[in-house]
Parts: sequence; structure tokens; C-alpha cells
Amino acid sequence: MSAQDNSRFAIRDRNWHPKAFTPDYKTSVARSPRQALVSIPQSISESTGPDFSHLKFGPHDHDLLLNFNNGGLPIGERIVLAGRVCDQYGKPIAHTLVEIWQANAGGRYRHKNDRYLAPLDPNFGGVGRALTDREGYYSFRTIKPGPYPWRNGPNDWRPAHIHVSISGPSIATRLITQLYFEGDPLIPMCPIVKSIANPDAVQSLIARLDMSNANPMDCLAYRFDIVLRGQRKTHFENC
Ligand SMILES: [Fe+2]
Repeated sequence: MSAQDNSRFAIRDRNWHPKAFTPDYKTSVARSPRQALVSIPQSISESTGPDFSHLKFGPHDHDLLLNFNNGGLPIGERIVLAGRVCDQYGKPIAHTLVEIWQANAGGRYRHKNDRYLAPLDPNFGGVGRALTDREGYYSFRTIKPGPYPWRNGPNDWRPAHIHVSISGPSIATRLITQLYFEGDPLIPMCPIVKSIANPDAVQSLIARLDMSNANPMDCLAYRFDIVLRGQRKTHFENC
């Protein structure tokens, strides 16, 4: 565990995060609490978290183009996905774990419960992990996932998206979210996206085309910055 000082993490903004009960997103009905939430004082259990400094990474853990190689490259649009992890006060989060998982270019997950008729890609596993550097930056190479249908409404499709887990410095900062891609017309139709009331919060989940980070003749690039909750006494820095 990494030791943190005794400062407290800021309260999560419930007007920014999606509401737990959103009936148009059907599974939220069963998952959401039926009773009012109980506020629990933060203790050392919440203000400390895993120490990733001893984690052993493979050479391609951050490279989904290569980390499931079965003799070829995955099919799809090759992209760099990169950004910076900061707290809400602009302080970069160094050496923290960023994990991603996603469908392949046809919209199919490599998971036993995914029965979508799009084929699996023999060269694509769809999972990766990276540590942020000293300034909070992370980077992956992957393919752009395809949209897929899901059993919610009669014709609901998920926009192309990548699932992201970010640990941050403590249990209280861990965030699991999804990123979308700039310009996707499925984003405003999605019942999961529509569970987010604040349009600015939706915009914060959209990765932007970043030509400055593209590799000519190789990969386009998308930028996705991540903001975690911060400690109240955190110093301000530019981010
Ligand atoms: Fe998904």
C-alpha cells in the first residue's frame, strides 16, 4: 500500500457523475440502491491505495497491436490513445495504473459471454495496461473498436468505446469509466451516455483526434485526459 497523508479526498460531485437509477438503461434499475446512501467517514482504508512500483510489465502490455500476436496484426484502424491523469486541482498523478479493455474492430469482445455474430480477431485480445509517467502521461497503441448492439431497447447500439480503469493514489480515487470517439453519431443516442445529465460531463468522456501525436503512415492518435478526485490540500499546478 502507498502511504498517503491524512488529508481527505474531495466529495464526489453527484451532479457530474451519472445517476445510479436511470430506467432507460435497463440494468441500472436492478443495480441501483433502493435506499438513501450512507456517508462513511474516510479512514486509512480509503486514503491509501495500491503501490504499483513493483508491478512487472511485459514489453507489450500497453500495445494492443502486439500483445495478442498470433502471427499477424489485428484488423482495424490503428490508433495511439494517450493522455494525462490529473486530480481535480490539476496535480498530475504519477506512476498510477491505467487499464483498458475493448471490443475488436467488428464490435466483438474476447469474452465467453459475448455472442455477437461479428467474428473474433485471432490477433486481438482487447486488454492492456500502462503506468503513468512522472508527469501523469500514459500511452497505448490499439485499434479503434467497432460499435455493437446490446439487449436494452429494441435497437440500441453502443457507440465505439474503450473501458478505462484508473487507480489513482488511493481506494477513494479509483475511477472506472468509458471513453468515446470524437464525431461518433451514436454517442447522443446511447442510453448509457444519456444517463449523464451534464453535457459538459459527456464531453469529458470523448477522446479527441490529436494529429500532433499521430504517427505518419502508421497510426492516427486520440487524446483522452482523465481527472480524478483530489485531496483538499493539493497544490495547484497547470495541467
Ligand atoms: Fe463495452
